[in-house]
Amino acid sequence: ASEAEEKDLVIIGGGVAGYVAAIKAGQAGLKVACIEKRGSLGGTCLNVGCIPSKSLLNNSHLYHTILHDTKARGIEVGDVTLNLGAMMKAKETSVSGLTKGIEFLFKKNNVEYIKGTGAFKDEHTVAVNLVEGGETEVRGKNIFIATGSEATPFPGLTIDEEKVITSTGAIALKEVPKKMIVIGGGIIGLEMGSVWSRLGAEVTVVEYLGQIGGPGMDNEIAKLTQKLLTKQGMKFKLNTKVMGGDVSTSSVAINVEAAKGGKEESLDADVVLVAIGRRPYTAGLGLENIGLETDERGRLIIDQEFRTKIPHIRSIGDVTFGPMLAHKAEEEAVAAIEYLIKGYGHVNYGAIPSVMYTHPEVAWVGQNEQELKAADVKYKTGSFPFSANSRAKTNLDTEGIVKFLADAKTDRILGIHIVGPNAGEMIAEGVLALEYGASSEDVARTSHAHPTLSEAFKEAAMATYDKAIHY
Ligand code: FAD
Ligand code: NAI
Repeated sequence: ASEAEEKDLVIIGGGVAGYVAAIKAGQAGLKVACIEKRGSLGGTCLNVGCIPSKSLLNNSHLYHTILHDTKARGIEVGDVTLNLGAMMKAKETSVSGLTKGIEFLFKKNNVEYIKGTGAFKDEHTVAVNLVEGGETEVRGKNIFIATGSEATPFPGLTIDEEKVITSTGAIALKEVPKKMIVIGGGIIGLEMGSVWSRLGAEVTVVEYLGQIGGPGMDNEIAKLTQKLLTKQGMKFKLNTKVMGGDVSTSSVAINVEAAKGGKEESLDADVVLVAIGRRPYTAGLGLENIGLETDERGRLIIDQEFRTKIPHIRSIGDVTFGPMLAHKAEEEAVAAIEYLIKGYGHVNYGAIPSVMYTHPEVAWVGQNEQELKAADVKYKTGSFPFSANSRAKTNLDTEGIVKFLADAKTDRILGIHIVGPNAGEMIAEGVLALEYGASSEDVARTSHAHPTLSEAFKEAAMATYDKAIHY
């Protein structure tokens, strides 16, 4: 970037939040630069998050299915062996295809891509330490901070990404560990725990709370999910806190005790995955040079228009409030650019779906039953099991349910919770229903093709306002 030239917008961070904002700004004709230090675009999601984890989830599921679930389908297979190196290669191919795709989109939309680490020099100037050596400076009329998040470390356990790993190590192990301990039974713990369990590891999940799934998952769905994952071979220690660990020997020893106090126990494993949440990342950004502060959890403080207290500096994605999800970051990116250009924009935080890509998948949108109870909302509920759905039956994939929660009086949908095959695709219909303020009767009276899994969705809606037919 030439020092003299001032951009309309400078974006620090080329993750989902940053790259989507950059493309949207470019499309609107703004002069925009995006600074990314990792050497490739797409951030956590494309490089070490959503995409590589889903590649491994899909292929480990196929492997597990071929090993354990072919006979009843009339398919006889010979020796099945795992080629972990090739599975990792497939993952890398997906990742590099997508990250290069974003570089192409940057070119197409006239976004200047600056490879380097950005730090505020003053309120309009970002100094960049270039990846290829040297420094530059770029000035922006407006600046977006989209620097994302990082794994929260566990005090006393040093991450080496080989024996003590975060999700980044968990998508790149060179061999299948015999035993794996997962600290934290949230989304990362269950997704990555599933991958290595399917590939042959003995996986034990240690969770502090009394239920798996992390924040947001409906109690009933979490219980059912735990039952299904246990059937697949994963072990769970709930209400259990990790006290510390010892990495000095060839294996790792982890000390745990009941969350309410009690006898200590030592668990050993070859690999320990730390998955206790993620925290906003602003290290080295030079926030102190412009007087910007973060809250007690490290999040950048913003208003409804994503503005920090310095109005031309906005922040979006994992580094600020809200769920740490790629599609939430994307919605914010579009809305923030619209605020910048038009003065208005909108994100409906009440209708952001969550999906856990285990098998079966778990997906939800809106409020869960425990939240409605706590808020003293009068609601009704209806559910439908996949075991009564014709398509699930033909697929020999019948585990799970669809559950609706609707206002007791008006029938307006308040939340939809699914554990079952393709739940992640199916929840899109729930999100749309919520966005349009639909009632369960609206969904129930909408024709769904037969035979599809989505009929379970329709019948759960029928069960909410009246009765299901097939159950
Ligand atoms: P990030 O993607 O973290 O991007 C921030 C970027 O900023 C990074 O590339 C970083 O290098 C760069 N950066 C930071 N500081 C600087 C600086 N000073 N100068 C220049 N560049 C800088 N979400 C989903 O919705 N679905 C999923 O399936 C899913 N799976 C996940 C699986 C895993 C294992 C993990 C860890 C996360 C997953 N997520 C998923 C969450 C998702 O990855 C994040 O919500 C998303 O990446 C947030 O986007 P972001 O742009 O805010 O931050
Ligand atoms: P999480 O917040 O989902 O779950 C963390 C879990 O660890 C919670 O259940 C918590 O009770 C538990 N925990 C915390 N401290 C603990 C301790 N000391 N001992 C035992 N248990 C403890 O966080 P996770 O799984 O690390 O994922 C981080 C975020 O990344 C997610 O919240 C999500 O936003 C994003 N993500 C999204 C995915 C998706 O959309 N499919 C996939 C992976 C990550």
